[in-house]
Amino acid sequence: MAYETLIVEVEDYVSLIRLNRPDALNALNSKLMKELSAALQAANRDDNVRVIVVTGSEKAFAAGADVREMSEKSFTDVYFDNLFGVESEIIARVRKPIIAAVSGYCLGGGCELAMLCDFIIAADTAKFGQPEINLGIVAGMGGTQRLTRFVGKSKSMDMHLTGRFMDAAEAERCGLVSRVFPAKDLMAEVMKIAQKIVEKSLLSSMAVKECVNRAQETSLAEGLLFERRMFHAMFATEDQKEGMAAFLEKRQPQFRDK
Ligand code: COA
Repeated sequence: MAYETLIVEVEDYVSLIRLNRPDALNALNSKLMKELSAALQAANRDDNVRVIVVTGSEKAFAAGADVREMSEKSFTDVYFDNLFGVESEIIARVRKPIIAAVSGYCLGGGCELAMLCDFIIAADTAKFGQPEINLGIVAGMGGTQRLTRFVGKSKSMDMHLTGRFMDAAEAERCGLVSRVFPAKDLMAEVMKIAQKIVEKSLLSSMAVKECVNRAQETSLAEGLLFERRMFHAMFATEDQKEGMAAFLEKRQPQFRDK
C-alpha cells in the first residue's frame, strides 16, 4: 500500500516504518496518524513481519502533534473527533514488538509515539521533551502517564512543567531509552537488534510483550499471576520443546511459531 506521509519497507521479517513529513519535522497530523495506525495494523497481520521499527529522519523522529492543524480547533472539534484517542489505542494494541529508533527531535506527540512503542533506541543526537505547556495545553497521547512510568514523578513533572528538552545521555540514565548509539550507526544497530528478535519464536516475543506491559497496567499480584500463566502456557508449544532440546543438544534452535 502506498502512503503519503510514511515510507514502509519489509525486509528480512522487519517492517521499517519511516515517518516522512520532512517539511514539518514529521509533525503528527491526522493523515500521518491514520496512515501510521493502518501501517502498524498491516504489519501486525503480515506473516512476513516479526518485528516492527518506527523511525523518523536524522533531524527529527517527530517534533510533536501538528500545531498548524490543531491551532484553529475548538474543544468540541477535538472532543467529538476524540483527537489522538482512536489511533493511539490502535497502536497500543499492536501485538508484535515495536522498536522506536529515535534521532533528533522527539517532542510532544513524537515522544508519546516513541513511548507507545515497546522500547526506544536513540541516536546521541536525540532530544526528548513534552513542551505542550509552552502552547498552553497539556500532553494528550499518554505523555503524563507513560513518561511518569518510565522516569518517575519528579523528572516527569520537571519535563512537563518546564517544557525543557532531555538529551540522549539523560534519557538513557533515567530509563526512557534502552540504548544510545552514534547517529551514523543508529539504523544499522537497530536492524541488528531487530534481527535478534526475528530469530526468536514469535509466540515467545508476543508473550513477552503482553507480560511486560502488564507490569505497567496492573497490580504486582495480577501481573505476576498473568506472567506465571503465560509461562505455563508456553509449555503447550512446539517451540518450547525445540528451544530446550536445542540447548541440551548444544545447537541453535529452529523455531516454527508453533
Ligand atoms: N507542528 C507543525 N509544524 C511544525 C512542528 C509542529 N509540532 N514542529 C516543527 N514544525 C515545522 C515548523 O513550523 C517549520 O515549518 P516552516 O518551515 O513552514 O516554518 C518546520 O517544521 C521546521 O521547523 P523550525 O521550527 O523552523 O526548525 P528549528 O530547527 O528552528 O526548531 C524545533 C526545531 C523542534 C525546536 C521547533 O520546530 C519546535 O519547537 N517545534 C514545536 C515543538 C512542540 O511544541 N511540540 C509539541 C506539539 S504538541
